[in-house]
Amino acid sequence: MFSAEASRHLHFLLEMPNSPARNADISQKLIIFAQRFGQAPPLPYRDSAINNSQHITAMFRTNTCGELRLTDAGKKTTLAGWVQRVRKMGGMTFVDLRDRYGITQIVFNNEVDAALNDAANNLGREFVVQITGTVAERSSKNPHLPTGDIEIIADSLTVLNPSQVPPFTIEDDTDGGDDLRMKFRYLDLRRPSVRRNLELRHRMTMETRRYLDSKGFLEIETPMLVGSTPEGARDFVVPSRMNPGCFYALPQSPQTLKQLLMVSGMDRYFQIVKCFRDEDLRADRQPEFTQIDCEMSFVSQNDIIELFEGMAKHLFRELRGVELTEPFQRMPWADAMKYYGSDKPDLRFDMKFVELMDILKGHGFSVFDNAAYIGGICAKGAASYTRKQLDQLTEFVKRPQIGAKGMVYARVEADGTVKSSVDKFYTQDVLQKMKEAFGAEPGDLILILSGDDAMKTRKQLCELRLEMGNRLGLRDKNKFACLWVVDFPMFEWSDEEQRLMAMHHPFTHPKDEDIPLLDTKPEEVRADAYDMVVNGVEVGGGSIRIHDSELQAKMFEILGFTPEKAQEQFGFLMNAFKYGAPPHGGLAYGLDRWVSLFAGLDSIRDCIAFPKNNSGRDVMLEAPAPLDQKQLDELELALAPKGE
Ligand code: AMO
Repeated sequence: MFSAEASRHLHFLLEMPNSPARNADISQKLIIFAQRFGQAPPLPYRDSAINNSQHITAMFRTNTCGELRLTDAGKKTTLAGWVQRVRKMGGMTFVDLRDRYGITQIVFNNEVDAALNDAANNLGREFVVQITGTVAERSSKNPHLPTGDIEIIADSLTVLNPSQVPPFTIEDDTDGGDDLRMKFRYLDLRRPSVRRNLELRHRMTMETRRYLDSKGFLEIETPMLVGSTPEGARDFVVPSRMNPGCFYALPQSPQTLKQLLMVSGMDRYFQIVKCFRDEDLRADRQPEFTQIDCEMSFVSQNDIIELFEGMAKHLFRELRGVELTEPFQRMPWADAMKYYGSDKPDLRFDMKFVELMDILKGHGFSVFDNAAYIGGICAKGAASYTRKQLDQLTEFVKRPQIGAKGMVYARVEADGTVKSSVDKFYTQDVLQKMKEAFGAEPGDLILILSGDDAMKTRKQLCELRLEMGNRLGLRDKNKFACLWVVDFPMFEWSDEEQRLMAMHHPFTHPKDEDIPLLDTKPEEVRADAYDMVVNGVEVGGGSIRIHDSELQAKMFEILGFTPEKAQEQFGFLMNAFKYGAPPHGGLAYGLDRWVSLFAGLDSIRDCIAFPKNNSGRDVMLEAPAPLDQKQLDELELALAPKGE
């Protein structure tokens, strides 16, 4: 762009210390600079307070497009940005000029300068332009724009770069579909709503660093090329040219490395770090995502929970202006499953499950009589639901993703009697007992599911509860319900693997009082593990870790590792534990989930600059893609023919 001399000169100007003399000096020098290098002379350098333009060099502009107000009327200004829209009205042309900071209206008047007005009329959407003019009060003000009281009466216009017609309109209310916007993500990011998500993300990482630094945490980077581990999700692997036939894996999380940093005596570690997991994608899952990963030495579970609850409250205050004064509820995993059918209950609304086995079994209704679980929820004030709405709910729970066989409903009438869809099997007496179990009142609707697998049926009831929460408008995005789910089981049975798997990960410490059960009833062992849940989203999770090599070896044994395999895969960690490993524990927050929660987004994709689509593809970069034969040869890789 600039000659070496121009660049040197500009560098010199930008590196001068800040002072009024310096500002005057810079103004003068910039004018000389601009004249020497053929740019339009910039206006005097403004020593602005902390505001939008404080970081702007006076090279292309004196102000941003979001900055000028009525108090600036009469000032000369130079703006640079993208043409959002051009409107011609009589002899006047109006251009909305946009940059990261906002939109300012520019006016060109045919009667004052016909050539300039013509040039403005020839501008297309997304042209990059520089305009100079005078700030003036608008006759018809736009109360929806911060700059809506003023406009710029233009006296010069420079096209810095024209643009092809963009494939979709660069406005919040765009006509671009998902695929198109992702293909041209750099244009999508110009839309204010998307840009704001990235700004929020930036503020979140800044506040995170500020909070953790104030608590003595060190930010330490760990490698991206690590070894593949068999536990957890599938790895993304990277072939090594220098070690033919060998593969690195991209980290699913820096779990073992942060534990090694504790062995190293780093005491408090954090990292805002990319993690990679080859798993099926959902709205809250991306194959590469970012964790705020933390670890601490010499701490109890309570110390960790308090520190990270403090961090959550700090983030709510700084980013959402929400003051959370009460301690977060701590709910044992067993209760979360019993009352909400989920390890991440949405507590913005109550609607707890009530078990009805004792009341409804044994009355001749075979569906319930043969069930291993009968449970229901009470939707306040929903007795007015029509037959059609109830049929829709039945269809909802019968969808293959949910898998219930059917749904029973009961309305509490105005006179307190209960009318159910299975009235012929139950006396009013029994139905009244059921009503009391829910504490239901006239006008309430009771919805009941049953099944031969209690856990499965609870999960189905959980979906029904969330659906009712949606339908009744109880899941307000501006309301926040935070809790810790604690006392997770250490293991869960995997039908696929036909063995116990670690529910969190194999490095999690069992509860001291449950250690004797490891040999006898491992499935009953609870872990010192905890998740933070906000509005039904798991925003973080962690645990106290095992720091004893023998207990760690035992854990691998229960997970089905031979001693040799455990040594091969995790020898580095078990050996490290033999050299004075401190008691330690930690947690990782999911940055993408936090940002989307604060921004009220339905998918974490919208707060990631360049996300993958649901098939794990980056449609803009067209990745993943096949490798050239040359690259395959260098890596000594051969592809099996398709289907093998
Ligand atoms: P975990 O697997 O629970 O724990 O991950 C921690 C948090 O990361 C977020 N998260 C994700 N976000 C987006 N896309 C994904 N695919 C995804 N997977 C997880 C969630 C989750 O709570 N090493 C442990 C942490 C620890 O024990 O310290 C770990 O990775 O918000």
